[in-house]
Amino acid sequence: MSISNPKFLSAQKALDYISDDLVIGLGTGSTAEIFIELLSEKIKSFNNITLTSTSNRTTEFAEKLGLKITKFQDLSRIDLTIDGADEVDKNLNGIKGGGGALLFEKIVAKNSLRNIWIVDSSKLVNSLGSFPLPIEIVPFACNHLLKKFEQMKLNPKLRLSNGKAFITDSNNFIIDCNIGKIENPLELELELKLITGVVEVGLFNNIADVVIVGYSDKVNILERK
Ligand code: A5P
Repeated sequence: MSISNPKFLSAQKALDYISDDLVIGLGTGSTAEIFIELLSEKIKSFNNITLTSTSNRTTEFAEKLGLKITKFQDLSRIDLTIDGADEVDKNLNGIKGGGGALLFEKIVAKNSLRNIWIVDSSKLVNSLGSFPLPIEIVPFACNHLLKKFEQMKLNPKLRLSNGKAFITDSNNFIIDCNIGKIENPLELELELKLITGVVEVGLFNNIADVVIVGYSDKVNILERK
């Protein structure tokens, strides 16, 4: 991986936030995987770091690198979670779930004392919504929710994989909604979460404490005010 790769630079910077005795949540996606690979080297200089994962994909990836993953359910605290994001606005709210792992990502993030996102600069936006918003739903409700989201003018599309519905780690489906500019992400998250059959929404509001933005030759660190 080239050191002028923006994802690499943001992942590398995240290593500065790692210290001994931390319980760390590992995110999902290509940037998180760069971080995990770098961490697998750095971890040798620590005595006591515990790792947990936000997806089956991440668990498999980390274990192949020789890292030990402790089940999230077996932990009583997470100090810090490092994850990627699909879009980030100026308030550090974001859209996640492009990789389909939004439910576990949000559970781990909401139970972490601190959350750091690592992104390349293309993920920064003035308003969320150009990236289709992933909504995880119960398969039983799929056709009815597609109709409902259509009526709400959310431009929904069932996510497919090899011609069949994409199945999440929790055996749910994902509907991607091509909304365009989201005026009020907090309101929309609440509105969608109240719909029966919706399991989780890819709006991650008030979660990231720090966003490390990678460019081709530098990183910028954004902090929640
Ligand atoms: C996984 O479900 C997503 O939330 C990822 O964190 C997001 O898609 C970022 O992925 P990349 O780092 O591959 O861009």
